[in-house]
Amino acid sequence: MNSTASLQLISSRAELHTALNQWRVLGHRIAFVPTMGNLHAGHLQLVEQALQHADRVVISIFVNPLQFGAGEDFESYPRTLAADQDKLNSILQGQEAVLFLPQVAEMYPNGMENSTRVEVPQLSDILCGASRKGHFIGVATVVMKLFNLVRPDIALFGAKDFQQVQVLKRMVQDLFLPLQIISVPTMRETDGLAMSSRNGYLTAEERGTAPYLYQVLKDMKQQLLAGERNFSALENHAAQGLAANSFIPDYISIRNAETLQPAQLGDNELVILAAAKLGKPRLIDNLQVSLS
Ligand code: PAF
Repeated sequence: MNSTASLQLISSRAELHTALNQWRVLGHRIAFVPTMGNLHAGHLQLVEQALQHADRVVISIFVNPLQFGAGEDFESYPRTLAADQDKLNSILQGQEAVLFLPQVAEMYPNGMENSTRVEVPQLSDILCGASRKGHFIGVATVVMKLFNLVRPDIALFGAKDFQQVQVLKRMVQDLFLPLQIISVPTMRETDGLAMSSRNGYLTAEERGTAPYLYQVLKDMKQQLLAGERNFSALENHAAQGLAANSFIPDYISIRNAETLQPAQLGDNELVILAAAKLGKPRLIDNLQVSLS
């Protein structure tokens, strides 16, 4: 175990168990922020909120191979531990926290292929799950393992990954896990682009185009609020706009915000979800719309 003034670096399950037991004995409420690192202001906002909801925070950085498909960016995913540590130290300002940094063998001691998996059916198979087969099994499995190691009172996730949050909330509900999931609003660049570790893959030209995705979502929201109910016409128009601006849309879809099923007339709580490739990265974003 290596420690700085406020941030304890821990890489083994045993050391994590010891450190967190000491907090529990003292009656501390524990918040957990799981990440894959390459931290940006969106992640730091999760940690700041965590500190408001609990006495102690655990942050994990683990690039989870099980949630990456063949040909995806597992190998090249940005790993920036020293910079991540500096950013965490700067917002913790001396408050005690643990940074859990397990290796793959620590998380999958019986080998990844042989590991028990957690599957949240239906919610995992649509939208991003349709084009990234097995992705949400990888996410649910690793988050379940991390929850079992950390045993947090609350866990915080960014709302940019709207479908991920729905999958994890369902997992917590179905498996009776004694914790609360908090979804924190998406942090955006000043031009509207949702912050993401993968934005770093954009070329300068693509970076100039990228905020168009959020613009499309805002236009759709405005039309829904103005009374438009031809959902498929809105979706088709948006997809055409994205394609005309160098994106390769995967989906842009108006959904029931709870079930993620295609929106029906009479649904009041909606979410517009989009995924589109722009050069190397596949960008995702979403916007909630309340018609009630
Ligand atoms: O959102 C992420 O960064 C990852 O999917 C998560 C939740 C840390 C699981 O690996």
